[in-house]
Amino acid sequence: MSKKKGLARLQAILKMVEPHIHGVVVDVGCDHGQLTALLHDLVRTRGLQATVIGSERMAHRLPRNRSANGYPMQMMVADGMRGLRHVDVCIIAGMGPHTILEILAAGPKPKTAVVHSPDRTDTLRRGLKAAGWRIVEESLAPENERCAEILRIEPGVEVSTGHTLLFGPRLLEHGDPLLAQHAAFVHRHWSTVAASAPPGSHGHTRATEWVTFIDGLQLPEPGPPSSL
Ligand SMILES: C[S@@+](CC[C@H](N)C(=O)[O-])C[C@H]1O[C@@H](n2cnc3c(N)ncnc32)[C@H](O)[C@@H]1O
Repeated sequence: MSKKKGLARLQAILKMVEPHIHGVVVDVGCDHGQLTALLHDLVRTRGLQATVIGSERMAHRLPRNRSANGYPMQMMVADGMRGLRHVDVCIIAGMGPHTILEILAAGPKPKTAVVHSPDRTDTLRRGLKAAGWRIVEESLAPENERCAEILRIEPGVEVSTGHTLLFGPRLLEHGDPLLAQHAAFVHRHWSTVAASAPPGSHGHTRATEWVTFIDGLQLPEPGPPSSL
């Protein structure tokens, strides 16, 4: 991943979470702490009333220098948010859908969370709905020649169903500058699966349903791939 593209995703996460930052804010799976440092900077420069904590399961992944622009960062070795009594906002990014769902289920339950899974975001959306989370906002950011899907969720009832839920209900309702490119990518992916799966198989049926769904969206032609 180029730094520039990785940064676009982190900036999209920051943009989504910024209006909701207050109280205890946890960057779960903070790894090298890049996002944690950006959150620290945001809180400090905007004078927000919040404490940012980076949580990382693997101690060796945490940065040696735990400071953001010279200001100390709070980080802990933990499985998700375990060990914290209260969390207002969490960010869980760069993890698979099942890991994200497990972390949310273990709690403590935040008032809002921004989540991102590099793959199988359809599985994530389905699992979030089943676990009692509603998708409030969605956005796309360029990453690795495709689009990272970023979701903000709150406890509640998600009413969307079927492929609308799996593709991104708020993306479809509110649009996104990268929506056409994203839909084209999803279409290419499932067309490839449909072409290689034996007709009549579960995989072929699933892929064909996706292709039919995307065809029915009637989105404008996407720009050239280089715009990603
Ligand atoms: C691919 S990195 C993503 C880093 C950063 N969040 C991002 O989006 O760029 C995933 C990180 O999550 C950590 N992780 C995975 N499961 C975790 C858990 N249950 N609790 C805390 N950290 C976890 C991994 O050790 C790894 O450092």
